[in-house]
Amino acid sequence: MGRVLTRSEPVSTTMEREFELTDKDFKFIQWFIHKTVGIYLSDRKKTMVYGRVSRLLRKRGLKRFSDFKSIIESDEQERVHFINSLTTNKTEFFREYHHFEFIEKVMAKEWQERHCEEIRIWSAGCSTGQEPYSLVSSLYRSGVLDWCPSVRIVATDLDTNVLSVAQQGIYPGGVLESIPKPYLKPCFVKGRGAQQGNIKIAKGLQQLIQFRQLNLLEQWNFNEKFDLISCRNVMIYFDKETQQHLLKRFHQQLNPNGILLIGHSESVGASSEIFHHLGHTIYVKR
Ligand SMILES: C[S@@+](CC[C@H](N)C(=O)[O-])C[C@H]1O[C@@H](n2cnc3c(N)ncnc32)[C@H](O)[C@@H]1O
Repeated sequence: MGRVLTRSEPVSTTMEREFELTDKDFKFIQWFIHKTVGIYLSDRKKTMVYGRVSRLLRKRGLKRFSDFKSIIESDEQERVHFINSLTTNKTEFFREYHHFEFIEKVMAKEWQERHCEEIRIWSAGCSTGQEPYSLVSSLYRSGVLDWCPSVRIVATDLDTNVLSVAQQGIYPGGVLESIPKPYLKPCFVKGRGAQQGNIKIAKGLQQLIQFRQLNLLEQWNFNEKFDLISCRNVMIYFDKETQQHLLKRFHQQLNPNGILLIGHSESVGASSEIFHHLGHTIYVKR
């Protein structure tokens, strides 16, 4: 005969879990991630968090998140691994292509008419690098690199793992599908030997990008302003207050007439007073 559950025994609705992550642990993770990097993890993210935290616990031979918590609190490196594990890094080359069309067809012309001696671009939340490499390819294709004496892209992300991929600029051949043909030959190089099957961004273009680890919530310490900031599909993970605070800081960090690009499901909300919408999630500093 089957065993009868008494009232005090919890009814297990899911399969037996390998690791212990209590509601209190999850609340701590929500609070900690929001406080340090601005990311809002809703209650619906608990399964995702469990999956990612489990990998870290398994590697360290731990069984309970509470044992890991004290490690995170005292060890900076472990804290970085923990934060890295909870970021979402989805990206691709020429994602939201209308932004690149806008740079090539509108901005390239405008910058040339203004005789810009230098152009500064910031890819904020660049993940594994496809965004800044697409930006530099657009600058190449539109001829900006031919006439502007000084072009630089600063590409930053919080996550140190994705940044090291970005810095290398080597991708599996499968990404070719997302790169429109006209950019392929001039901007990318096919790998040979050990790199057979991979592709790499052309060296001359890669040199124009400076990668840096940066938490958007902390001090930025730039000694320059930007003509264009691309912060796409990053603010979507932040709460409204953090988004508005960040938008004000982007505004201050832009040159007059500076452009802000955001992701397709993001908006500037109350910051429409300081950013004029040109359409298609493209904004100009008021
Ligand atoms: C979904 S990816 C977007 C990548 C790219 N911008 C795109 O649209 O394809 C979001 C990136 O934002 C980064 N991120 C999240 N919070 C951040 C923060 N507080 N400071 C800097 N980067 C952050 C993540 O590490 C991740 O790589």
